[in-house]
Amino acid sequence: MQYFSGRFKDKASDLMLDFHSSIMFDQRLYKYDIVGSMAHAMGISNAGIISDKECTEIKNALSEILNDIENGEIEFSITYEDIHMNIEHILTQRIGELGKKLHTARSRNDQVALDIKLYARDKIVDIKNLLLQMMKTINTIADGTLDYYMPSFTHLQKAQPITFAHYVSAYSQMFKRDYLRLENAYDLLNYCPLGAAALAGSTYKIDRYYTSSLLEFDSPTENTIDSVSDRDHIIEIISALSIVMMHLSRFSEEIILFSSTDFGYIELSDEFSTGSSIMPQKKNPDAAELVRGKSGRVFGSLMSILTTMKGTPLAYNKDMQEDKEAFFDSIETVEASLTVFIGMLETMQIKKDTLLKSCGNGFINSTDLADYLVAKGIPFRDAYKIVGSIVYYAIEENVTLEDIDIETYKSYSNLFDKDIYKAISIETCVKNRSLFGGPSKESVEGSIKNLNHFIKTENTKTYKSDVNSILNKLLKS
Ligand code: ARG
Repeated sequence: MQYFSGRFKDKASDLMLDFHSSIMFDQRLYKYDIVGSMAHAMGISNAGIISDKECTEIKNALSEILNDIENGEIEFSITYEDIHMNIEHILTQRIGELGKKLHTARSRNDQVALDIKLYARDKIVDIKNLLLQMMKTINTIADGTLDYYMPSFTHLQKAQPITFAHYVSAYSQMFKRDYLRLENAYDLLNYCPLGAAALAGSTYKIDRYYTSSLLEFDSPTENTIDSVSDRDHIIEIISALSIVMMHLSRFSEEIILFSSTDFGYIELSDEFSTGSSIMPQKKNPDAAELVRGKSGRVFGSLMSILTTMKGTPLAYNKDMQEDKEAFFDSIETVEASLTVFIGMLETMQIKKDTLLKSCGNGFINSTDLADYLVAKGIPFRDAYKIVGSIVYYAIEENVTLEDIDIETYKSYSNLFDKDIYKAISIETCVKNRSLFGGPSKESVEGSIKNLNHFIKTENTKTYKSDVNSILNKLLKS
């Protein structure tokens, strides 16, 4: 069947139908499309294009279609190309002539822009909630590991003593910024494109403020051309999601490294590990590896949508349909990655003794040894040099800084005294780093407290603009 009746004489080729249909993937938008159509029906009813009674009839029929879709009773068809035309077709089949009136003063261009924004709003909230859960998980781990001493690294070479709590809390700061980035993306997209129609709006007296407020947007978009051409929000969200994946990927890398036999800092639970088909001893960190690997998909989607958009003239072009798979895949990848990662973190064991043992080599208290001399009046650069020679000596003798006797210390500087051993103990090194943001117990406790406060405040915010609550509201009004 030819959908675009009138202008066309011949049937579309099956090749063309297959090529341009998006129903296989954009059916994810069915609920958003239905809610958007209900608001549009109310908008054209408000403008006197259809009667109140007709509007109610359309809304009821759309609501039944929604139920039927959710009960698996509807099969979409590529003949109707996308979710918008599939639903309009089913509506017209069910309520006849009236169904054909719904598309007055509307184009698929403003329809798809609206649907994707409604979808994006819900998904941003879902992912933000996952990020809050992630922060909570990390905070719980941090709270239990405030005295789990471990080495930190730069260049993957042992650096200075920290605690596991301090280390893991670095990630909660990253996820907090990711959260705020998504919140910002939400605010920037929260303008309603409905009424822009193909690109120049319409001659009907549609009150765009009315439909915008029905759908709980901040206000209508200000320019009808921009309304249907803009995909910035998709790019921005995928960009924020790419950063989430980059953070998850770095974290994954460390989980993989730290759970390896030579590190042994952590052990993943059986639930979130896999075995090898040939090597019986293996316990592989597949979850972390997959998350690290999947970051590539999201970065790829970002490049894909940027490239798709960069040469398209205003306003709508079919190129823009290519935004969907990239967007859906990014959202679904991030949701799955965060969910699995949280489960993996919640069930992993952190090996306190191995971490402490790992502080014993690598001279991670060298800076503190230098600081000891600085406290006694030696300029830092001179102290640095003296300690460098001591470390050289320790390497030659195959001993740690703690093993060196006081006489030897004194031969490097007579400012050394017996209190040096306490000053360079791992506990002291951490305890003395009590500045804001540092690894000491008090500092990390402070940051845990701040983050808990953030999580709590964010959790109590109510997100009224989810599609289900709007749907119920529109059905009642
Ligand atoms: N499926 C299309 C998309 O996702 C909907 C908009 C179609 N508009 C058009 N003028 N062909 O972009």
